[in-house]
Amino acid sequence: MTRRPTLAVVGATGAVGTVMLQILSQHADIWGEIRLIASPRSAGRKLAVRGVEVEVAALSEEAFDGVDIAMFDVPDEVAAQWAPIAAAKGAVVVDNSAAFRMDPEVPLVVPEVNPHAARVRPRGIVSNPNCTTLSMIVALGALHAEFGLRELVVSSYQAVSGAGRAGVDALRRQTSLVAGTELGNNPGDVRRAVGDDTGPFPEPVALNVVPWVGSLAEDGWSSEEMKVRDETRKILGLPRLKVAVTCVRVPVVTTHSLTVHARFQDEVTVDRAREILATAPGVVLFDDPAAGEFPTPADVVGTDPTWVGRVRRALDDATALELFVCGDNLRKGAALNTAQIAELVAAEIIRAS
Ligand SMILES: NC(=O)c1ccc[n+]([C@@H]2O[C@H](COP(=O)([O-])OP(=O)(O)OC[C@H]3O[C@@H](n4cnc5c(N)ncnc54)[C@H](OP(=O)(O)O)[C@@H]3O)[C@@H](O)[C@H]2O)c1
Repeated sequence: MTRRPTLAVVGATGAVGTVMLQILSQHADIWGEIRLIASPRSAGRKLAVRGVEVEVAALSEEAFDGVDIAMFDVPDEVAAQWAPIAAAKGAVVVDNSAAFRMDPEVPLVVPEVNPHAARVRPRGIVSNPNCTTLSMIVALGALHAEFGLRELVVSSYQAVSGAGRAGVDALRRQTSLVAGTELGNNPGDVRRAVGDDTGPFPEPVALNVVPWVGSLAEDGWSSEEMKVRDETRKILGLPRLKVAVTCVRVPVVTTHSLTVHARFQDEVTVDRAREILATAPGVVLFDDPAAGEFPTPADVVGTDPTWVGRVRRALDDATALELFVCGDNLRKGAALNTAQIAELVAAEIIRAS
C-alpha cells in the first residue's frame, strides 16, 4: 500500500492559511494526517479541513514529529526561526515567507515555470515566491520560453489582503467610515475621516491609491519592488534581467493586478503571443476590449489562473508587448502555489515508498 504523507500547515489561522485549508479540501486528497499549527493564541481553536474539524496546535518542536511536509504561512521572522527546526526534524518545508527566497541553497519554485528546481533542496526548504511576482510569472514564463525575455517594466495595483488579515480589516473599517459620504472632494478630508490608525498602510487606502508596498530598501525603492525584481530573475534563471517595478496599493480586497511592459530578444507578434497565452497551463487569455472583455479583480478573485488581457505590441518597439494581468494573491499568489509545490514533493515521497 502506498504511504500517504503527513502534512503540517503552519499559520493555518491566517489570510493565506485560511485559503490553504479551502484548497486542501478541494484538491485530490493525497495526504494522511493534516496537522494545523499557529501561535499559542490560537491553540485549541477548531478549523475545518477536508470536511473535518481539526484542533489547532501551538507551534513547537514536537508539533513536527512524524511530519513529511510542512507548509509555512507565517511572518518572515517566525519562518526564519522555525523552518530550519522543522527541516532538521525531517520535514520538507515549503515556505511562503520571504525568509529564504534569495538563499542560493533554497529553490524558488513556480510549478508551471521551473518545477525541476523543487527536486534540489540542500536545506530541506523550498520557497514560494512573493504574491506580486506570482501574479504575473506564469504568463511571463510562457512568453519567455518562446521569445526570450530581455527587459521588464511593471506597475502593480495590489490588494489589501497582501498585507494579511490586518490589511483586510483596515480597508473594511475605512470603507465603512467613508461610505455614503461626500468625502473625496477636498484635500485631507478622507484622512480626517479615517483617523490616525491606517492599519498596515502608511496612508488611508479607502478612496485612495498608495504608491508604497513593503519597507524602505536602498535608494528609494521599496522592499516589494526589490522582491519582484530579484525573484523574477531567480525563477527565470536570468540573473541580469533589466527590471523596473513600481508597487501601488489600491482599495481591492483580494487579487493583485499588474501592467507589464515586456521586451524580448526579437520581434514579437500579438497573434503569436495570444496563441501562447491561450494555451499556457495556468493562464486564461481574456482579451476582447471591443466586447468589454478584460480581467478585473472583481471577477478574478477566488479563481486559480493568471488572467491576461489588453495584449498589445508596443507602439514604438516591435520587440515589446504590453499586458494587463490579474491573479488572486491568496490563491496562485500564495496558497495555491504552495500547495502545488507540496504536491510535487509528496509525489516524490509516494514514489519512493
Ligand atoms: N497575504 C498574501 O497575499 C501573501 C502572499 C504571499 C505570501 N504571503 C506570506 O505568507 C505569510 C503569511 O501571511 P498572511 O497574509 O497569511 O498573514 P496573517 O494573516 O497575518 O497570518 C499570520 C499567521 O501566522 C501565525 N503566526 C504569527 N505569529 C506566529 C508565531 N509566533 N508562532 C506561530 N504562528 C504565528 C498566525 O497565527 P495566529 O492566528 O495564532 O496569530 C497566523 O496563522 C507571510 O510570510 C506573508 O508574507 C502572504
